[in-house]
Amino acid sequence: MIRSLWLSLCLLGVAQVFANEPSSQRQAELKNMLKHDCGSCHGLTLKGGLGPPLLAADLKKTPDDYLILTIQNGRKGTAMPPWKPFITEQETRWLVQNLLKNPVEPTLVR
Ligand code: HEC
Repeated sequence: MIRSLWLSLCLLGVAQVFANEPSSQRQAELKNMLKHDCGSCHGLTLKGGLGPPLLAADLKKTPDDYLILTIQNGRKGTAMPPWKPFITEQETRWLVQNLLKNPVEPTLVR
């Protein structure tokens, strides 16, 4: 019984690695960060503020990889700071892909 529980937990972990997705707990942390940290400049609903809007319609104009680089390294000479110390490249990719999925309002931020 305990052994099969352990096994299924392991399989769950393996599945998550293969899906290349952050764990659900980490996803919740990332959403929270998006709202409170990114939101302080990009607007609580990501419609823009000091930083440009991060809605799908706006982000689609820029290649994904460049968006990921921007978030990881920041943009020198602008207020956009680097987030590399806090989120991995894989987590950043997940964030960008989710932002791009939302045509009008980001469902990530409510
Ligand atoms: C201190 C303010 C500030 C914070 C906090 C901030 N940003 Fe930015 N961000 C900016 C500014 C200003 C720009 C525009 C840079 C430029 O002029 O190219 C920008 C640009 C961007 C871009 C490029 C947009 C585009 O269309 O090219 C992305 C993506 C982005 N930020 C995502 C994020 C994410 C995700 C977070 C949170 C992890 C975040 N930002 C936090 C100020 C901020």
